[in-house]
Amino acid sequence: MNDRLKIELGRRYRFSASHRLHSDELSEQENRRVYGKCNNPHGHGHNYVVEVRVSGDIDPATGMIANLMDLDGCVEREVIEPFDHKLLNEEVAVFRKHVPTTENLCKEIYQRLKHFPDAKVESVRVEETSNNAFEYAGEELWDRLAVQQKGKGSD
Ligand code: NI
Repeated sequence: MNDRLKIELGRRYRFSASHRLHSDELSEQENRRVYGKCNNPHGHGHNYVVEVRVSGDIDPATGMIANLMDLDGCVEREVIEPFDHKLLNEEVAVFRKHVPTTENLCKEIYQRLKHFPDAKVESVRVEETSNNAFEYAGEELWDRLAVQQKGKGSD
């Protein structure tokens, strides 16, 4: 058995951005019905909170799994700088094609951070308001669920 101890670290970040929920795949009427006031053409803003969770072994030399300064630098460069005080629909390329819901935002942030070299990115959680939060743990979660389903013999 492996006696190495895996530790998970969570760190929170904040940015403010505006968006409009509108899908090109829906009619104007359907957009208004599905998204309600979030479909307002002039958009609206949120103060987003992002929690990034990474895991790894403790480096015996430093006592840490990853240097927080390195994680901060990565999140700053990949997420905060490109998203903060932006209109997501227009200023972040992926959201010209995909509706900037918090689900899609969560997935995009995970994609941007998953190559962080010093630790494994386990999940990204985004709070849109104090009532709404979404979490994404990558495709691996789906792979694991698929394996479990197969194990149960129901596919
Ligand atoms: Ni919104």
